[in-house]
Amino acid sequence: MAFQSPRGTEDWLPTTARAWEEFLTRAWRIFGLYGYEPIEVPTFEQKDLFVRGLGEDTDAASKEIFTVYSVGALDTLKKGGHLKASQTLALRPEGTASVVRAIAQHNLVPQGGAPAKLFYAGPMFRAERPQKGRLREFHQLGVECLGATDPSADAEMIIMCMRFFEELGIPREEMTLLINSMGDDACRPAYTEKVRAYMVEHKDELCEDCQRRIETNPLRSFDCKNPQCYEVMEGAPRFSDNLCEPCAERFEAVKGYLDAAGISYVVDPRLVRGFDYYTGTVFEVQVNGESAGLGAQSAIGGGGRYDKLMAEIGGPDVTGLGFALGFERIMLVLEAFGIQLDPGAVRPIYVACVDESVRAKAFGILQQLRDTGIPAVGDTQGRSLKSQLKVAGKSNARAAIIVGPDELAAGKVTLRDMDTHEQEDVTLEDVVARAASLYY
Ligand code: HAM
Repeated sequence: MAFQSPRGTEDWLPTTARAWEEFLTRAWRIFGLYGYEPIEVPTFEQKDLFVRGLGEDTDAASKEIFTVYSVGALDTLKKGGHLKASQTLALRPEGTASVVRAIAQHNLVPQGGAPAKLFYAGPMFRAERPQKGRLREFHQLGVECLGATDPSADAEMIIMCMRFFEELGIPREEMTLLINSMGDDACRPAYTEKVRAYMVEHKDELCEDCQRRIETNPLRSFDCKNPQCYEVMEGAPRFSDNLCEPCAERFEAVKGYLDAAGISYVVDPRLVRGFDYYTGTVFEVQVNGESAGLGAQSAIGGGGRYDKLMAEIGGPDVTGLGFALGFERIMLVLEAFGIQLDPGAVRPIYVACVDESVRAKAFGILQQLRDTGIPAVGDTQGRSLKSQLKVAGKSNARAAIIVGPDELAAGKVTLRDMDTHEQEDVTLEDVVARAASLYY
């Protein structure tokens, strides 16, 4: 075949597509308990929204963004012209910046109003090197809460995230909840300088990327996958020892709420997360990548507080926090634990015709069944009765209605229960009601 799905993307066959629907149904149920409402935002936005919102040296900003130009804009570029900022677009690498933009644009957190609590789901795009559990187009379920300042909101966010994983059936003991505080404007700059100074001392031991990060974003080096950088950063100053008093108190309060709720966690001073917008509490849920079917990827979800993002993108000074989960990674984990999210296909009623003379009648019965809300399928290929019944079996039909000329002349059809193989003659008046009784 000349065409294949692009590298780093996946087709969802019905089993996965149904699992996604089930995933969303459960999300509605759980997030609804906490007062969340759904929102949908565009899959592409002005690129600056992500680059400004995410910081200049996050991986997402520097190399992972798919940039999109209209044909007209591309022509302008080719001719050496300049584009307006609104003409450089990007496929969204995540949902947070878009949702925050939408909340500001539609004034969903009016002065003194209740927090905006929203969740969203859909494809995200990152131009990463694809591998198991790491795609270029993947799907996230995300939650954002704008305008809730109390530490109990941080704890509630984490608890809701864990509650959702529980709802999916992932064993609690297979997940590790990592938490950390990334400080705020009062303590982060001084801490960053300390880390920078430490990295300068160890410059020769660091990879090229981390050497660059000394200038641009030292804290990101805590996340570097290079084993030698990992070693070096083990000795770096810890954020937990450098938080200002309000941040330290806040973090203690969050931990207190988690303890009271019986949520176990590990404080990981190296947890810095991939986006620059975080302030204060950050968290990540990891599974043991290898045994949980994820290969090198272990994070199935993560998030945190981002109290400056709304103001950074030009909105009001409103605090925020949230998290996102990766559907494809969760599917790999569920598979590794033998958990089926797909509720299974509906079992239709199959309407078979014995010969061409009854096809129109069979066609009519099919419509009648569907009008009554019963899934029904029939032959559209002119097959023999035998092969129609084979197809009925393959499509896991609950029953078959067999329409034959002799029975029809007597105002009847045959109804076959596909599970018990029992057959009965049913009048045309009763057939839909009988089929319905088998279906429900
Ligand atoms: P993130 O940690 O970049 O956070 O992504 C959240 C989840 O999306 C990850 O834990 C992972 O399960 C999944 N994921 C990320 N990249 C990929 C990929 N290339 N392939 C497959 N799955 C992937 C965020 O996106 C933040 N917006 C979360 C947040 C919301 N923070 C505050 N509010």
